Amino acid sequence: MKIKYLRLPGMKIGVMVAGALLLLSQPAFSSAIIEGQRMNPVQGREGMAVTSHFLATQSAREVLKNGGNAIDAAVTAAFSLAVTQPRSGNIGGGGFMLISSEQKDEVVAIDYREKAPGKATVDMFLDKDGNADSQVSRYSHLAAGVPGTVAGLAMALQQYGTISLKEALVPAIKLADEGFIVTPRFSDGLKAKEEMLKKWDSSKRIFYKADGSYYEPGDLFIQNDLAATLKRISENGIKEFYEGQTAELLVAEMAKHGGLISMDDMKNYSPGLRTPVHGNYRGYDIYSMSPPSSGGVHVVQILNILEGYPISEYGHNSAQTIHLMAEAMKRAYADRSMYLGDEDFVKVPLKGLTSKKYAAALREGIDTKKATPSETIAPGKPLPFESNETTHFSIVDKYGNAVSNTYTINFSYGSGIVVEGAGFLLNNEMDDFSSKPGVPNAYGLIGGEANKIEPNKRMLSSMSPTIVKQDGKNFLVTGSPGGSRIITTTLQVIMNVIDHGLNIQSAVAAPRIHHQWLPDQLRVEEGLSPDTVKRLQDIGHDVKQKSAMGAIQSIMIKDGAMYGGADPRRSTGLAAGL
Ligand code: DON
Repeated sequence: MKIKYLRLPGMKIGVMVAGALLLLSQPAFSSAIIEGQRMNPVQGREGMAVTSHFLATQSAREVLKNGGNAIDAAVTAAFSLAVTQPRSGNIGGGGFMLISSEQKDEVVAIDYREKAPGKATVDMFLDKDGNADSQVSRYSHLAAGVPGTVAGLAMALQQYGTISLKEALVPAIKLADEGFIVTPRFSDGLKAKEEMLKKWDSSKRIFYKADGSYYEPGDLFIQNDLAATLKRISENGIKEFYEGQTAELLVAEMAKHGGLISMDDMKNYSPGLRTPVHGNYRGYDIYSMSPPSSGGVHVVQILNILEGYPISEYGHNSAQTIHLMAEAMKRAYADRSMYLGDEDFVKVPLKGLTSKKYAAALREGIDTKKATPSETIAPGKPLPFESNETTHFSIVDKYGNAVSNTYTINFSYGSGIVVEGAGFLLNNEMDDFSSKPGVPNAYGLIGGEANKIEPNKRMLSSMSPTIVKQDGKNFLVTGSPGGSRIITTTLQVIMNVIDHGLNIQSAVAAPRIHHQWLPDQLRVEEGLSPDTVKRLQDIGHDVKQKSAMGAIQSIMIKDGAMYGGADPRRSTGLAAGL
């Protein structure tokens, strides 16, 4: 198979010019919702899969083609990503899956976020002077939370799927066993993280050739240890991962290097079924991830604030729209710092944070003509940054099911530590706890008491897998990587569709903005006009253009047709319909 890569200004777009994948993408066609728009989404009528890696999209599409449902396809895609995209696809991390069934008229959330080990302590990342040591919370064995991915995916299949775990693992095992062709993105990622990965022999052996040289585009990449681990899971079920040889390998890795995860931690891990956060925006029902994610809460909160303004009239990415978005974002992130944490441990004022009345009160504090300095914004009263990667995929089927899944090992390649003999990377999710009140994590996010480290607690996340329904029907399936930018990226795709009428591909590709209260900075992608930036500066925003934010793999369903929008910010992404 020949792969040709085109470079467009500011974006890398990988284009398959020959081979099976061309057969996968249906020719885009015009319909009422895409006429006059700038970019054409991929279209399908019987199913759609959008992931950040074409091989995972292909695995998922195959499942749908064989009559499997969206949950079967999602679990298959997740395992395929664990092999083809080790920087974020994983079995050593955790995540969230939202499942919407039109037939049952229900949306459920599977929380398979990692948990702190039983021996974790509140001050485990503080040095002798009481300062938070980010080296330890990010790059050591202490950085790893108890992985939830295998249990979460198995739960999804068992409760909502139609195929077995064994069947869902087939493509992943084949990809690990027989290997796949290295893309420029895969090769570039490993080159960029050489220092972090070569620190550990177990990682060096997997990700670099025997002489230490790089895998280059076009090379075949085989993962024998990972293939063996996946085969054991296939044979013995999830017990293998949590109680069997895989657990023993992980715990031995911990014991050898001062990590905390014990056999008991592994055995006691369980994913949870949660009720998603529900909101309403201009007549659409928004379902998104509940705590231990802050994502859903703040997507809904920001939409509630913005609902009070004629956003569509102000126009897409106009200075006025961006100003109001930034002001709403600041207030939400201030609240995040104070109130959000794992609901199994702390009471999160969900009702208040997502109420229209609270949003109206916050709106009163917004000057529509001037930026409010973040230092004057404190968390309200709802009661009466590095190259990182997480990955999101969206899948829908012909039976009315939609799956929105985001999972992660936190940084690209997580902690950089491969479990010796098991072939998979450990997450460094413990850094998402607030190691010390007021000290920002890797994404500049500040937290406090609600997100302090406690044994068996889940660390706060920003991952926001989201499903929007219209008149009881699945309408939009979306979500993104991007650390603190996940929430605002997701928000913008929802607004681009609902407020600005963009088709899903344009909505996904459009330049994005982000404000997270602290630092008091309006981050923008390239693509905003200079006079828009000037107007924002004139009214008090500190505008900084930085690298692209997020990779929001999304689907929109309209009049029985499924439209897939893969984010051009990921060169390997692919939407494929049936
Ligand atoms: O759960 C979270 O919010 C973070 N661990 C996500 C990290 C992330 O998205 C990195 N990627 N771009």
